[in-house]
Amino acid sequence: MAEVDLLRSLPHTERDVQRRAEGKDETVVAIAKQFGEMYWDGPRQYGYGGYRYDGRWRPVARDIIAHFGLRPGMRILDVGCGKGFLVKDLMLECSGLDAFGLDISLYALTHCEKEVVGRLHLGSADKLPFPDRSFDCVLSINTVHNFSRPRAVQAMQEIQRVSGGRAFVQVDSYLTPEQKEIFESWVLTAEFHDYPEGWLKLFRESGYTGDYYWTIIE
Ligand SMILES: C[S@@+](CC[C@H](N)C(=O)[O-])C[C@H]1O[C@@H](n2cnc3c(N)ncnc32)[C@H](O)[C@@H]1O
Repeated sequence: MAEVDLLRSLPHTERDVQRRAEGKDETVVAIAKQFGEMYWDGPRQYGYGGYRYDGRWRPVARDIIAHFGLRPGMRILDVGCGKGFLVKDLMLECSGLDAFGLDISLYALTHCEKEVVGRLHLGSADKLPFPDRSFDCVLSINTVHNFSRPRAVQAMQEIQRVSGGRAFVQVDSYLTPEQKEIFESWVLTAEFHDYPEGWLKLFRESGYTGDYYWTIIE
């Protein structure tokens, strides 16, 4: 396992933490957790506030390809792929790479980029509908924290099972009590979150041997 910031080239997202905290209540959280239209393309209070393809994942795709030495003919899976932007960009950056995605959001999958139609599966990260070691690489970015701890363990076991350990997972975390407080006022959908030591304990318990990094809101 190695800590590696594979999202380092993603542009910094401006977050109005105070506005989110003020607009957040049980109803907003419940709607966000449906991962439907409001989460993706509704007001910012409910999630992304309009998520459209703009190519920002292309340099990330390039870094992922280099990090894992991916080549044409290899198979890669993005667990929690949303609208499939990274799946599309992985194929743009490495022609012949066989890229797939899986997500629980029917709305995201039915609003995907045309290049990934037929490549995105509807399902849950804790029960992946694929054989053991069926991918050369598995990614899961900002998704596993949407489970309770026991189901997050199952999701990590599933990622390990289908990847054989050649994988990258990024999850919500914080390094200081101040960052934890900011995170808690921002968060809508995450059910389990912890300091890196807590996540590393969970990864070890799951038998996960892949790479990882943290999403930290500052
Ligand atoms: C913060 S978004 C991240 C999307 C994308 N990976 C990215 O980084 O832009 C969280 C994603 O997790 C998906 N998700 C939530 N629960 C899930 C589950 N049980 N199984 C698979 N995907 C899930 C959501 O639909 C959404 O696409």
